Amino acid sequence: MDSFIINGQRKLQGRVYISGAKNAILPIMTATLLTAGKSTLTNVPRLNDFKNMAHLLRFLGAKVEHENEQMIIDTKEINQYEAPYELVSKMRASIYVLGPLLARFRKARVAFPGGCAIGTRPVDLHLMAMERLGAKIKVEHGYIEAECPDGLKGSVIEFPFISVGATANAIMAAVLAKGETIIKNIALEPDIDSLIDCLILMGAQIEKVNNKELLIKGVTELKPFEMKMIPDRIEAGTMLLAAAITKSSITVSHCEPKHLEALLSKMEQAGCRFEINNEDCHPLQGEQPFEITIYPAQKINPVDIVTEPYPGFPTDLQAQFLAYMCLADGSSNLKETIYPDRFMHVAELNRLGADIQVSGGMAIVNGVAGFSGAEVMATDLRASATLVLAGLAAEGMTKISRIYHIDRGYERIEEKLNNLGADIKRIL
Ligand code: EPU
Repeated sequence: MDSFIINGQRKLQGRVYISGAKNAILPIMTATLLTAGKSTLTNVPRLNDFKNMAHLLRFLGAKVEHENEQMIIDTKEINQYEAPYELVSKMRASIYVLGPLLARFRKARVAFPGGCAIGTRPVDLHLMAMERLGAKIKVEHGYIEAECPDGLKGSVIEFPFISVGATANAIMAAVLAKGETIIKNIALEPDIDSLIDCLILMGAQIEKVNNKELLIKGVTELKPFEMKMIPDRIEAGTMLLAAAITKSSITVSHCEPKHLEALLSKMEQAGCRFEINNEDCHPLQGEQPFEITIYPAQKINPVDIVTEPYPGFPTDLQAQFLAYMCLADGSSNLKETIYPDRFMHVAELNRLGADIQVSGGMAIVNGVAGFSGAEVMATDLRASATLVLAGLAAEGMTKISRIYHIDRGYERIEEKLNNLGADIKRIL
């Protein structure tokens, strides 16, 4: 298993390019199941989560090619309706095949995803949405067995609380359902907007009725699409925090500052300053990509955060922000409301010299003068990124084992950081 060796306390400088958004691309990969033909996704980085999703789509009969940031998915010959346990257990996002398979083939058999390092992560809202659309669902022998012999039927789906995944699955199922569907209390994450944009390109009829509700008029057929994937706000946020924690100034390119407002405002309270520009030096076809230059705080103010659904502070940046707050001049409280147990990184940060206590979904962080390098273990994707940030700031050498977690969601993170002046080696 690969590890990282980081020699800390190097200043970072220069420009880093942000890749396509993992959590936007995964549902769009499964949305290709809604049509029979070749769809093209561009700005797709090489992430292990995409390899796993491609395995699953191939298992279902699709052809998937991924080269030079372009992924072509051909769904002409889908001949399976089952997502087996060996594939689902590697990646919870496999549940995204449920809605599209049901909508197009009227049946689906998907292994019940278990919990993971960040919590139990149930799928009851996904199942509720499919049932509202008329599917009959049984959970047996570890599998979700769903069918709707007469096709899905439009309905009203009201989520009791916000779920990104259940919103995406419900939308993908409703676009081919007969009649109108109203989905209430939807997730507002940019990943959902980008899925809606993709489905509209495919011919779906989706309207945002107000900021919390969608009206979907079912169509009988959808067509393949070509679409450029949006930039990954979590990668961009991680890079900004890498600069902040090493008190460095860098420019983060090809990002969307609008998606990062909650983070930028908290980093401003910590004392950082930002300059946001249109990237006229590297235009992407017909678009106005942005870049953010960060001027870090030299003395870091302690800042409290509460993670919330978008546009609130993202849970996927909680761990990285927590590492930053370890070096603040005072105490801060970080409350995790999405996954109250998502604090596996705390014990590892404490090994590096942090002073953090966790109680009732809240981390209480007492700022320390610095991290001191040590051997630590990555436990999940964002926890690994956090340990990289702490290692960059630490005095001496930090060894992070089990970094396969990081390759699930960051493309060549060590190369990107080394290009900025970090000293990170990947060893076997
Ligand atoms: N929940 C339920 N029942 C459900 C679905 C969700 O109780 O049927 C609960 C979850 O346990 C959680 C809350 O609802 O407490 C919100 O979960 P959500 O469904 O929004 O999360 P998700 O769709 O499973 C996506 C991202 C996560 C990200 C969360 C929250 C993907 C593939 N995953 O997960 O990303 O943390 O939204 O924003 O999009 C990551 O990238 O590191 C990651 C974990």
